[in-house]
Amino acid sequence: MSQDFNIVVLPGDGIGIEVIDAALAVLDAAQARHGFKLEFDRRPGGAHHYKDTGEAFPAASMQASRNADAILFGAMGWPDIRYPDGTEIAPQLDLRVELDLYAGVRPIRAIPGLPLPLAAARAKDIDFVIVRESTEGWFHARGRSVMGKSASGDEAVHDMAEITRKGCERLFDFSFRLARSRKARNAAKGKVTCIDKSNVFLGMAFMNRVFHERAAQNTDIVADHCYIDAYCLNLIRKPWEYDVCPMENQFGDITSDLGAGLICGMGYAPSADVGDNHAVFQPSHGSAPDIAGRGIANPTATILSAAMMLDWLAERHARPALAAAARSIEGAVDQSFAHGKVRPADIGGTDGTAAVTRAVIDALV
Ligand code: NAI
Ligand code: MG
Repeated sequence: MSQDFNIVVLPGDGIGIEVIDAALAVLDAAQARHGFKLEFDRRPGGAHHYKDTGEAFPAASMQASRNADAILFGAMGWPDIRYPDGTEIAPQLDLRVELDLYAGVRPIRAIPGLPLPLAAARAKDIDFVIVRESTEGWFHARGRSVMGKSASGDEAVHDMAEITRKGCERLFDFSFRLARSRKARNAAKGKVTCIDKSNVFLGMAFMNRVFHERAAQNTDIVADHCYIDAYCLNLIRKPWEYDVCPMENQFGDITSDLGAGLICGMGYAPSADVGDNHAVFQPSHGSAPDIAGRGIANPTATILSAAMMLDWLAERHARPALAAAARSIEGAVDQSFAHGKVRPADIGGTDGTAAVTRAVIDALV
């Protein structure tokens, strides 16, 4: 029996469109092998859509996203296209708020065979997950900035953060569950490290207090703590020691890019924005105007995000075939990069989007 899942696909701008096409090709091949059927519903949105129509994200795209079983997202935004207030078009941020996608899951895993930037031998063991709180923190200020002194904000602008008990509890509970399932699946460390700046900010001290409350209810998992500045140091010195790392929104935004840097760049960093009822799967990168339209974008992050989508659907709907397909896609990615078989432009090779996609499809089992 094969039940259809409706997947809303939001390619967006720039390389978002290119890497989405690659991921859809891999999903098509995987579902043929594993006996399930995804229905792809492509919808408009993004900076170029705003330029053409005056609308960044049509209400119909939002409604379709709300009704979908899952959402696969490319990238939206383009530096030269902005709202009158100077900020960029970023419907992905609106989706997080609108669908209450509080956990931004960003796995940082060294794919075997990649020429990692860290010289340490243990760099090959890098395998941790940043869980970025995605509905509050400093991003709470978005659209709520308070202009100081003059109405135009020429003297000062106050961007206020918000940290709530509910936001912290669900972030940490999600992180403990994730650490537990990683431990069961791949013998990960079973450790959650709360990253904060609780030595300075009251909101962060509150967050840290809630972390310890939740840790007391999850004693099978090790509860650890690190200040955000020391964490950045440790991500270079010994990133292999981390497992699951929940943190405030803006800290997660920044350290996700640092984490991606550890594993050869944005092209290898998948992500999922997960709530209790909806989830968006997308690469951690943006629309990459510097390489868009040249066929050289690395689709690996998006392909791995598609695998995360299958895992999420499998668990939610008790469909093990989708989890098997997810393992198959991850295995095919590893197989493709092993021994330098494919070498995309971002690691100095000549393989473009199509070549990487073909290699992954050929390696699917
Ligand atoms: P970016 O992630 O698009 O690019 C950063 C650097 O990484 C560039 O040098 C780019 O060429 C490279 N890169 C990114 N993805 C790659 C891939 N798959 N393969 C090879 N190289 C890759 O970030 P940037 O330049 O700061 O932002 C560009 C636009 O994207 C902006 O308009 C920004 O607002 C938007 N953006 C959208 C996001 C989203 O939709 N979730 C996330 C981040 C940025
Ligand atoms: Mg970012």
